[in-house]
Amino acid sequence: MKSNDEKLTARSWFYSQPKQNVPECSECDALKVYRLGYTGQYIIETEIDSGLGGEPVEINQITDIHFNYVAIADESDGEAMGTRSCRKWLREGESVKSAINAMNVAEYADQTVITGDTLDYLSKGTEMLTKRHIISRDPGVMIALGGHDLTKQMQTSLPNELSLDERMAILSEFWPHDMFYHAKDVGDKVICVCLDNSRSCFLPCQPDRLDKEIKRARTERKILLLFMHEPISTRDFKGKLPTLWYSPGAHREYDFCTEDTVGFKPNDEATKRMYSLITENADVIKGIFCGHRHSMFYTEIIASYSDNEGIHQSVIPQLVAPGNPYLDHAGRVVRIIVK
Ligand SMILES: [Fe+2]
Repeated sequence: MKSNDEKLTARSWFYSQPKQNVPECSECDALKVYRLGYTGQYIIETEIDSGLGGEPVEINQITDIHFNYVAIADESDGEAMGTRSCRKWLREGESVKSAINAMNVAEYADQTVITGDTLDYLSKGTEMLTKRHIISRDPGVMIALGGHDLTKQMQTSLPNELSLDERMAILSEFWPHDMFYHAKDVGDKVICVCLDNSRSCFLPCQPDRLDKEIKRARTERKILLLFMHEPISTRDFKGKLPTLWYSPGAHREYDFCTEDTVGFKPNDEATKRMYSLITENADVIKGIFCGHRHSMFYTEIIASYSDNEGIHQSVIPQLVAPGNPYLDHAGRVVRIIVK
């Protein structure tokens, strides 16, 4: 276990390398984007003011790693081999390169969170790569589920042979924590919450736990940061937003109010409750970090909080982080600094 001093020294050494501009990324007041001059990774830096003082706490987010691989153990599995022959993007484990490069940055953070689509599809091969390059590398890592993690079929036009429960059971065997809800205190002022919304909705097991976490944060004077795969609705009716950083094949613009975003018009109780819990407690929920879209967007969710004086309007920043396996696999990491 490294002492805090040692960790801070290592971190300031790592970030003392020269920083290069990234002209292909549009400017945004909330984000600072640069490329590390010696080690080559792209960093998206954002600061969150907790209002609580003390030492900064640093959380790194990586998203949409998309391991595409089959192992020797998959060779007798017709489903895995069918996917192997149809799914060309990042085949033969190409994205291991960008995963290693991103994890080489994340080792300097206090906490690393991966926001879904770690596996391009479920196989023994992708399980092995996830264990070797993510979980063994950082046993404390938090990993949200994405839609890709749940399927064995990719571009085969065939339905999954195993039920969703059976596929979930395989994942839960090696997942480092509860796949549906996992909260962790980081430093003296942050609670990171990793949520499964990989099926475009929240789950009945989540609202009571989040409600408790929100109350604890308020009592213990901490803030909450939420990590999930899919963005939630901004409910701002602002229309399409241009991407800040385009990834080939992904969206150049997107409407985060109405198009396909979680909670715009929820038709299940859990999603309704989760959406209200998130957006009505903006005094403690200070940021949402997701992926899914592969291009980068910065959005603000219409939110509020209440105290003795009544209800106050606010916004919660929501960063839709860009996918990791692009840019010649240099690695792309969101560096969240909580002050
Ligand atoms: Fe993805």
